[in-house]
Amino acid sequence: MTGSDWSSLAGTAPERGGGQGDGVGGGPVGSNGVANLSAGESRAHLTSRITSADAIPIGDADPGADHGYHGELAAILIGEDALKAKIAVLAKAVAADHDVDTPPLLICVLKGAVMFVTDFARALPIPSELEFMAVTSYGSATSSSGVVRILKDLDRDITGRRVVIVEDIIDSGLTLSWLLRNLATRSPASVDVVALLRKPEAIKVDVDVRYVGFDIPTDFVVGYGLDYGERYRDLPFVGLLGEHMYR
Ligand code: PRP
Repeated sequence: MTGSDWSSLAGTAPERGGGQGDGVGGGPVGSNGVANLSAGESRAHLTSRITSADAIPIGDADPGADHGYHGELAAILIGEDALKAKIAVLAKAVAADHDVDTPPLLICVLKGAVMFVTDFARALPIPSELEFMAVTSYGSATSSSGVVRILKDLDRDITGRRVVIVEDIIDSGLTLSWLLRNLATRSPASVDVVALLRKPEAIKVDVDVRYVGFDIPTDFVVGYGLDYGERYRDLPFVGLLGEHMYR
């Protein structure tokens, strides 16, 4: 699940649980010579800014109802068409930075990124390979403990590979910060990050993210992989959860 401060649409949302890290950000940095791992500078022109005013309130035709979530959503923040168009743009940008001969190794961070990575890989006009990691964090649902534990590690060695971490959302940035440091110890040729969503106002650590689809407000978002209590991942759009669902 993800969310922090609910905006004008729905009051105050609970903070998301999980996704904590060690608080050391800035991408693959450190004294072990991994500072050059990032393959390039941020592609800021790819990022669309979404505000709460862009959210389309749910009217009589409740799109959540099509998936069994009757009256549970407050609004659609990013619709299916906008997601599809953005993923195509991100895929082209990533492909432009890679050679066909050295296909990117996509690392999907479970579970939230699973929808994104499958659409992203299919939109890539170059070959790619796929790996999965699952991590969890110690601590309460409302505070970061600073410690991340690997639940499922990669199935292969990434030495010399050009890695692209595929994330659904960057909230505090703590998970990604920890992950970048962890992967940097495994001697990849490069590590870049493609994130569908980012909450700039929630960032706690400076993380080097090359490709970002949408900068969004700190509203409580669900759908397209994002959950609240493991629900709503199956929605094909990014929506705002109704306040009554978590109050
Ligand atoms: C979410 C999301 C990111 C992380 C981002 O995962 O998928 O991995 O939180 O949050 P952060 O920037 O504050 O660290 P979560 O821990 O909720 O698990 P999930 O993907 O299984 O839902």
